[in-house]
Amino acid sequence: MSVNVTGTTKILGIFGDPVAHTLSPRMHNAAFRALGLNMMYLPFEVARHNLEGAIGGIRALNLLGVNLTHPHKTGALDLLDEVSNEVKEIGAVNTVVNREEILVGYNTDGTGFVKSLKDDYGFDPRGKRIVVMGAGGAGRAICWALNRENPERLTLVNRTFEKAEILARSVGACPLPWNDLQVESEICEAQLVVNTTSTPMDLNPLLVSEKQLIYDIVYNQKETPFITAVREKGARIGNGMSMLLHQGVLAFELWTGEKAPLEIMRRALFNVAKK
Ligand code: ATR
Repeated sequence: MSVNVTGTTKILGIFGDPVAHTLSPRMHNAAFRALGLNMMYLPFEVARHNLEGAIGGIRALNLLGVNLTHPHKTGALDLLDEVSNEVKEIGAVNTVVNREEILVGYNTDGTGFVKSLKDDYGFDPRGKRIVVMGAGGAGRAICWALNRENPERLTLVNRTFEKAEILARSVGACPLPWNDLQVESEICEAQLVVNTTSTPMDLNPLLVSEKQLIYDIVYNQKETPFITAVREKGARIGNGMSMLLHQGVLAFELWTGEKAPLEIMRRALFNVAKK
């Protein structure tokens, strides 16, 4: 990657822990280069106990903005000056814009996920039966965005049932505990099953049919025996890289005010994935 840093280069980045796996710098730096923007996006390994200092550093170092990833999506909420309505409703933030030292939080995860469904998989959630697994930061954003699309039924399954209940109440979903017998029938009847937990999806492949889209938001995942079995069943498999791309496009547009070069960002991500 050729780098041409000057005295006026604007710095952006991602705060996370761990952060070594992130592909966001590839995607955003490719976009800056393509549009001739004098900007650079860097990874910052920020431990949970250093988040407050790091957020203050956005102002102190005059960064243009940052993404927040695990474990900072909820912890940053009270450290920002303003948050968008969707952040208030979701309770998690993944994008911060520095507007002359006023730090404004947004969440592009849910909207990016729905863009991914529609644009890359031709899947319209309206009137569909959907199962979402996981009620963490990503699960919350995805349920919020799916609910706005008026699905026929949104079922939310989470290991810690209380979290599923709280989220389900705010997004009009039906909560189920992880081991509830009804989970299997909900999965069988769903047109879309989404895994937002931090563990790879590992359902009984017998529950899957060729009519379904099975979407794991983790990207760069190895082909697991479950995914191989799903493929053999003829179901479609959603790749978390597509959600990463679309949430990144929305964040890019918030920071720069320019239309993001989608295909350049896509190529930057998928070329890395192939290596
Ligand atoms: P993120 O913000 O990236 O979504 P998170 O807030 O830590 O991450 O949420 C992780 C999600 O993965 C949660 O839904 C969590 O379930 P709990 O609410 O019960 O903690 C889920 N998760 C993590 N490890 C899991 C495991 N071994 N089995 C099932 N679910 C798991």
